[in-house]
Amino acid sequence: MSSPAVADSVDEKCNYVLQALAMGAEFPPQHVFRNEITEKDYPIIPLSEVQADHDGNVWVCLDGGVYDVTAFLEAHPGGSSRIEMASGQDLSKFWAVYKLHNRPHIRLLLEEFRIGTLSTEDALRIERETTFGNYYESDPERPKQKEIRVASMHPWNSEPHPEALYENFFTPNDIFFVRNHNAVPELSEEDWELEIEGNEALGIENKTFKLSDLKKRFQKRTVVSALQCAGNRQEELITDGRPLYVAPHWRNGAIGNAKWGGVLVRDLLKECGMDIDEIALRRKDTNGMRIVILSQRTLMRLVYHTLELFQSRKLLTRMATHFLRMR
Ligand code: HEM
Repeated sequence: MSSPAVADSVDEKCNYVLQALAMGAEFPPQHVFRNEITEKDYPIIPLSEVQADHDGNVWVCLDGGVYDVTAFLEAHPGGSSRIEMASGQDLSKFWAVYKLHNRPHIRLLLEEFRIGTLSTEDALRIERETTFGNYYESDPERPKQKEIRVASMHPWNSEPHPEALYENFFTPNDIFFVRNHNAVPELSEEDWELEIEGNEALGIENKTFKLSDLKKRFQKRTVVSALQCAGNRQEELITDGRPLYVAPHWRNGAIGNAKWGGVLVRDLLKECGMDIDEIALRRKDTNGMRIVILSQRTLMRLVYHTLELFQSRKLLTRMATHFLRMR
């Protein structure tokens, strides 16, 4: 296909990406963001400077662009340490694993942090020298992959199609929505432990349980309950010019009904000394301690105040608007 004309603004570049995709380009159509578009706007920064110590600030590269993403660290849905891991390196190797980034709205976001351009030689060098292993190789097989919608492979996030939800009173296990932030941990039954942290005011003693303790010492209870991810249907919030910067872009299947089995938290707390029955009946107080469930509005206010600490007013306004609209 022929390359679209040179784009100046970030919005224009993203429109070109969408246009290129509609024309059948391989994703991501790199040429739209490549150096000839931006070289004239940004200073050339030598790779040695990109990789120098910036006093805690994090600079990364992609397609010949240099980005100072420090202001975004705390807001990154994948956590700040993941971006720090890519400091001084080329993002393409990381995003070849975390493919969910290779979409226009994230390129648009990244462009807000652009500070410079690498020489062609440095751009090729950093692309060549950056390596990143795929620690998702031990993730479980997903046999029903074709019957579900995979929102992202790394980390694995998937949802069933709505028909499967209304055809089954209990959503089958192998299509039930999965929300991961990391690779599936490989645990050994013998080594796994659940630690309950003590709290004097509530009368809770510090205790540790092995899986075999949970199975032997407590009664197994079952509860029939529907479970929904708080972000279900978030994809519907996206409109022209209003992208959404949260993973994993659910449609409408991040919900399911199941019979859950296991140990009640109540039974565990009781075992650790908490007089849960008397507290529930309000015959015993909690020494002034309150168990608080945050409303979503309060949570969003907290997110807003955290974001306010950032220097990027533009990013703050954009992200806060999205979060507040999700209330
Ligand atoms: C430095 C530039 C980066 C930017 C601007 C960025 C941006 C984002 C955004 C906007 C999301 C939300 C997903 C969405 O809206 O579709 C996201 C999620 C995520 N990112 Fe990044 N990212 C960056 C670097 C990285 C790196 C280097 C890694 C890994 C080494 C990474 C790992 C992740 C993961 C695992 C998620 C999903 C989190 C979840 O499922 O809750 N990101 N990122």
